[in-house]
Amino acid sequence: MRFDHFIAKRLQISERNARTRIADGEFSVNDVTSRDLKTPISRFDKISSQDSLIQPALERLYIKLHKPVGVVSATTDKEHQTVLDLIDHPDKDTLHLAGRLDRSTSGLVLLSNDSSWTEALTQPDQKVDKVYLVETDRPIPEAAVKQFAEGFYFASEGVTTRPADLEILAPKQARITLQEGRWHQIKRMFHRLDGIRLKSLHRESVGSHHLDGLEPGEWAFVANA
Ligand code: URA
Repeated sequence: MRFDHFIAKRLQISERNARTRIADGEFSVNDVTSRDLKTPISRFDKISSQDSLIQPALERLYIKLHKPVGVVSATTDKEHQTVLDLIDHPDKDTLHLAGRLDRSTSGLVLLSNDSSWTEALTQPDQKVDKVYLVETDRPIPEAAVKQFAEGFYFASEGVTTRPADLEILAPKQARITLQEGRWHQIKRMFHRLDGIRLKSLHRESVGSHHLDGLEPGEWAFVANA
């Protein structure tokens, strides 16, 4: 929001009055007097007048969490424990998720209150690798490698999945690298291979972010946000 609009709204004064007072140098943005009416103001900026704090700066939070199976990738849920329930931080209610995992999936979930960071991790055109480990109920055919690379057509969405890398590690175990995150994507891709079902699905990493030894249910601040 523009500085003049922010001041008018917060102090419940007219925009004209706000502009006059800003031009008079009454307010500071992050401890520096600002007379620029168009300065964009976010909740991460500290805004004060000579005698009072109008808005404290919100701390930018970048969090990684090891989601256990059974926990929901949401901020609220009537029935199940959510990833937010696992985080102990006074500003946790400002967090949102950078991509979701199914309740039955475990692994890395990223959260932040900085939408420019979460958008950069979730926009498909940013081509961020997401790496998963799967265990299947039946052996994975060698031909699956080519099918994952070529993509699967999902008629319900009218889309073909982007090329994905499938590395078969054992007859019923594989590592998959994807750059998108469609609903139940990996489960649906395996199901196309003669109805293979997943016994487990675990996300190891998102871009340069890894679990780095976090146990299920544990969280930590992201060092390289
Ligand atoms: N693909 C799935 O099917 N589920 C997930 O949780 C993530 C990717």
